Amino acid sequence: MRTKIVAGNWKMNLNQRESLELIDALKKSKFTSSAQVIVAPNFTALSACSEALQGSGIGLSAQNMHQSESGAFTGEVSAHMLEGVGVSTVILGHSERREYFREAGALLAAKVDTALKHGMQVIFCFGELLADRESGQHFDVVKSQLKEGLFHLPEDAWKNVVLSYEPVWAIGTGKTASPEQAQEMHAFIRKTLANAYGTEVAERCPILYGGSVKPDNAVLIFSKPDVDGGLIGGAALDAIDFSAIVNAI
Ligand code: PGA
Repeated sequence: MRTKIVAGNWKMNLNQRESLELIDALKKSKFTSSAQVIVAPNFTALSACSEALQGSGIGLSAQNMHQSESGAFTGEVSAHMLEGVGVSTVILGHSERREYFREAGALLAAKVDTALKHGMQVIFCFGELLADRESGQHFDVVKSQLKEGLFHLPEDAWKNVVLSYEPVWAIGTGKTASPEQAQEMHAFIRKTLANAYGTEVAERCPILYGGSVKPDNAVLIFSKPDVDGGLIGGAALDAIDFSAIVNAI
């Protein structure tokens, strides 16, 4: 059985006090599923959230990090700093980082290497633009994003990698991929992984879906055999909606 994961990407929302309020509400929620639950607040809230989450069973993720160990990189945050406040997971390659901060290929591969070197779990995001899907390029785009970011890794590194397929046209748009579209792509991703690393790695690796997952569409998306959970944006900012999504798995 693959690990099921539901992660909340809070993006650039909620200050420290508001983040702690949401954590409080989540701690009071009844999670009936056995999925691993993770939240990703902004950098300024991580330390306080780390303390607040102690013993809750909810994991803590950063939304990004720098690839270098330390040094003159004004405004950046390193893996070592994240470790220091008890962060064990990092989201890398999110489409907003790719689009607004030009993150891609070798840079993301370097971030992945640094995170894994520090023993962190990586949630690696990728997915096609609407134009790629409309021109029938979506499988090729996804395959090259995987190759560029991850296929240099040795086999044993994959135990700390979680994939998150997020079609860019579905993020924050209210437009979800249909459960069939999600399953089709997830099966393709697993096959691509099996071709590169063998079936054991492919069968063990959780593949999340992200893009306008809400309480009313989560059950159907999560019912697909190759969908192992979700990366949730907007709906993760509401404790009731987020719990309903966790419990949909
Ligand atoms: P959304 O965001 O659920 O608001 O579409 C998903 C994501 O960006 O991870």
